[in-house]
Amino acid sequence: MQSTYINQLSKLENQEVVLKGWNANKRDSKGLVFLTLRDGTGFVQCVIDLNIVGEQMFEDAKRLSLESSLSIQGKVIKNEKQFGGYELQATSLQVIAIAEEYPIGRKEHGPDFLLNHRHLWLRSKRQWAIMRIRNTIIFAIHEFFQQRNFVQMDAPIFTGNACEGTSNLFETDYFGDPAYLSQSGQLYGEAMAMAQGLIYTFGPTFRAEKSKTRRHLTEFWMIEPEMAFYDLKMDMDLIEDFIRYVVSKVLDNCQTELQALERNTSFLERVREPFIRMKYEEAVDIIKGEKTVNGKTTIQILEEDLAALKDNIASAEKDIAEREAKIASGSLTKGEANFNRSKIDTLKNEIADLLEKAANIPTWLNSAQNFERGNDFGGSDETVLTRMFGQPIMVYNWPQEVKAFYMKEDENDKGYVKGVDLLAPEGYGEVVGGGERETDIERLKRKIVEHELPMEAFEWYLDLRKFGNVPHSGFGLGLERLVTWICGLQHVRESIPFPRFYGRLTP
Ligand code: 4AD
Ligand code: MG
Repeated sequence: MQSTYINQLSKLENQEVVLKGWNANKRDSKGLVFLTLRDGTGFVQCVIDLNIVGEQMFEDAKRLSLESSLSIQGKVIKNEKQFGGYELQATSLQVIAIAEEYPIGRKEHGPDFLLNHRHLWLRSKRQWAIMRIRNTIIFAIHEFFQQRNFVQMDAPIFTGNACEGTSNLFETDYFGDPAYLSQSGQLYGEAMAMAQGLIYTFGPTFRAEKSKTRRHLTEFWMIEPEMAFYDLKMDMDLIEDFIRYVVSKVLDNCQTELQALERNTSFLERVREPFIRMKYEEAVDIIKGEKTVNGKTTIQILEEDLAALKDNIASAEKDIAEREAKIASGSLTKGEANFNRSKIDTLKNEIADLLEKAANIPTWLNSAQNFERGNDFGGSDETVLTRMFGQPIMVYNWPQEVKAFYMKEDENDKGYVKGVDLLAPEGYGEVVGGGERETDIERLKRKIVEHELPMEAFEWYLDLRKFGNVPHSGFGLGLERLVTWICGLQHVRESIPFPRFYGRLTP
C-alpha cells in the first residue's frame, strides 16, 4: 500500500492507510501501546492493540525507543480530543531503525543544551510549529509582492561598501582585498528599482553584533522592497498592507501550529485594524510620560502592570503552598500526587517568568523617564511605547543623527529624515526599518563624508542620482523578528533553523 502523510488524514477517515515516521512519544499499558508518530507534516496518536497486531508486532512496538523510525498501517479514526483531530488504530507495523538513547527527553533542558542539539531539537513539536509558520510567512511574502508586480532580484553578499554604518561589518579576505558580508541589499535594491520599477530582495544579511540580546542575530534574512516614484506616505501604506497580509495568512492557515505553540493570537488579530502612525517627537512625549494615551501616562500603565504582576506571583505562590500541603497530608492517590507535582513545576516556571518581567519594569520606567530626546530608541523604549497601544506602530520623521546616510531630509521639518520604523506590540519592537531615499546628490556626498564612509565605494551609488534621479522609497523586514513576534517566542534564536549569534557557530 502506498503511504500517505499525517496532514492528509482528515480526507481519509475510516480508511486503511500507511504512514512512515518517527516515534515522538510512547507509553504502554497492558496490551496497548500509545505511540505519537510524527512524519514531518504532523503528529498523530497510534493505538497499537496486542489483540489486533499480534504478539510479534506488539513486542516490536514496545521496543521502539524515542525517535526510532517505523512504518505503520492502520485505520484512521476521528478523535476530537487528539492533536490534529484524528488517531490511527494500527493493524501492522515495521521497525525501520531503532534509535540510540535520545538526548532530548521530556525533562526541562537549558537553552545551551538545546542549542548544542539544534540538529535534533528541530524535531520537537514547538520547533516544528515555528518552522512551519516561518515557511508560511516566506510564501506569503512572495505572494504579496508577486501579486503586486514586484520583481524579485538578488543583491550580492560580498560587498565593498557599508550600508548601515561601519560598526558591525563582517570583514572577509577577497583575494587579498577586504570585502564585507552584506548588511543590507538596499543600495543595490535602489539600482535595481531604477531598472525594474518595483523590486524586492530576499536574502541573508550579516551584522557583527557583539552582544547577546533576544533580538539580534549575526546572520538573518531580510526582505527589502524598493519602489521608484514612492514617497514616505506610500512606503508606510505598503508596509501596513504587507504586514497585515502576512500576519493574516498565518492566522488563516496555521491554526494547528499556533495551537502547538499555545500562542494567544489576540494581539495578532489587531493587525486587521489601521496601524498607529506618529512622528518621533510625539513618540518621545509618550515614552517620557509627558503625553497620555487614553488618559494614562506610560508611568501609570507600567506601575499598574507591576502591581498586577505582583498579584499574580502571590496567587501562584499560594496555589503551590496549597498543593504541597495536600501532597504532604498523604491523602492523595499516587496519580493525584504526581499531577499536583507537575502542576507545581509549571507554577514555579510561571513564577520565574513573572519575576523576570517584574524585575524589568523598574528598569523600563527609569529609562523611559530619563530618555534623552534626540536619541535612538532602545529595546525598552520600544516596549514601553508599544505597551500603550497593543497594535503595530509606525514611528516616522527621525532626527537625522540617529539614522543612516541615505535617508531623505524632510524639507518641512529640518533636521529630521523621512525614515520609518515599524514596532510590533507585546514587547517585540522594531521589525521593519525603511523610508524615503535622499535624492539630493550634494547632500548625499556630505552625509557620506560625515559618516566617514569611503567615497570611492559609493561612486556607483551616486550614479543613480545622476542618471534619471527620481523620488523612491523602500524598507527592510527582518524575517526572524517577524517570526519571533508572530510565534510569540522569547528569543529570536528559535526563529531560524540554525541560529548564528555572538558566541554561537555550531551546529
Ligand atoms: O533597520 P535596518 O538596519 O534597516 C536596513 O538595513 C535598511 N537598509 C532597510 C531598507 O530600508 N531597505 O534593518 C532592517 C530590519 C530591522 O528592522 C530588523 O527587523 C532586522 O532588519 N534586523 C535584524 N534582525 C535580526 N538580527 C539583527 N542583528 C538585525 N538587525 C536588523
Ligand atoms: Mg533599524
